[in-house]
Amino acid sequence: MDQAEQLRMLVKQQERKMPTARVITVTSGKGGVGKTSIAVNLAIQIQRMGKRVIVLDADFGLANIEVMLGIRPQYNLADLMFRGKSLSEIITKGPEDIGFISGGSGIQELARMTKEQVMYLTQKLVELDSMADVIIVDTGAGIADNVLEFVTASSEVLLVATPEPTSITDAYALLKALNKRAGFKRENTSIKMISNRVNSEAEGRNLYEKMSIVVDKFLNIQPEFLGMIPQDDLISKAVMIQKPITVAYPNSAAAKALMAIAAKLYDGTEQDVKKGITGLFSDMIRTKFRKARNKKEGER
Ligand SMILES: Nc1ncnc2c1ncn2[C@@H]1O[C@H](COP(=O)(O)OP(=O)(O)OP(=O)(O)O)[C@@H](O)[C@H]1O
Ligand SMILES: [Mg+2]
Repeated sequence: MDQAEQLRMLVKQQERKMPTARVITVTSGKGGVGKTSIAVNLAIQIQRMGKRVIVLDADFGLANIEVMLGIRPQYNLADLMFRGKSLSEIITKGPEDIGFISGGSGIQELARMTKEQVMYLTQKLVELDSMADVIIVDTGAGIADNVLEFVTASSEVLLVATPEPTSITDAYALLKALNKRAGFKRENTSIKMISNRVNSEAEGRNLYEKMSIVVDKFLNIQPEFLGMIPQDDLISKAVMIQKPITVAYPNSAAAKALMAIAAKLYDGTEQDVKKGITGLFSDMIRTKFRKARNKKEGER
């Protein structure tokens, strides 16, 4: 039995017994369109709805959730994978008791793990799946390999776009790249679009419609419209004071829009097709090992 098979078995075994978290991955084509603000505020709002929420910062470039929340975790995912840190040591408590995990270099280094480390990580992920009802993953932007890997393995993707022309073309480019990826399963992936920084409800819906017509026609992907968030200077103000807008300015237009989006994610029609964070990571690890093996064979 090879490593990937072993992993698959372990996941199956544990999935049967253990509860799994709903994993929501926030991404975008272009950078700076509001992913982190959205991830953090949806986390707060969903936690207020009585769910246990953990945010995973998978954007290893800039530690921007830390800045946004004004917290500084001591350890990250790589410390759990390679340096024997426990889950409780890598989860930092944020505002209103949301949990926060910094990915560190862990996500990049998945393929570097030994068999024992893979087994260990999987056990920890199974544990994590039972500690949270929802895990919100904040990714980097664009078609970089490490972003696409994450999005490909996710079954629920929130795609953020703004009315800027480059944001729209980059969002399309992201879906196009995703569509080409081995391992991407259109029928198992729910793509939900958020229009951010719009001036009206109509502009938000219009942005979605423009996008969905093109991706339906050329990629056969049918994204759902999750909602819009208005341009609101209080978002930047909240970033400056290192507090989520739903905490600092809960009555602002943007906070209310974020609350509406959180409510829509739990409107009773949500489907229970969770593979959990364990399933997501095991898909990613499998793909990485396969790639590494193909590369080795190619070199022979
Ligand atoms: N609706 C909005 N109204 C006004 N400003 C906004 C809005 N959404 C986001 N911003 C501002 O845009 C900036 C970028 O937001 P954020 O960091 O959330 O984007 P991001 O997509 O996570 O960026 P990156 O790709 O660098 O990770 C922030 O300074 C934030 O204040
Ligand atoms: Mg960000």
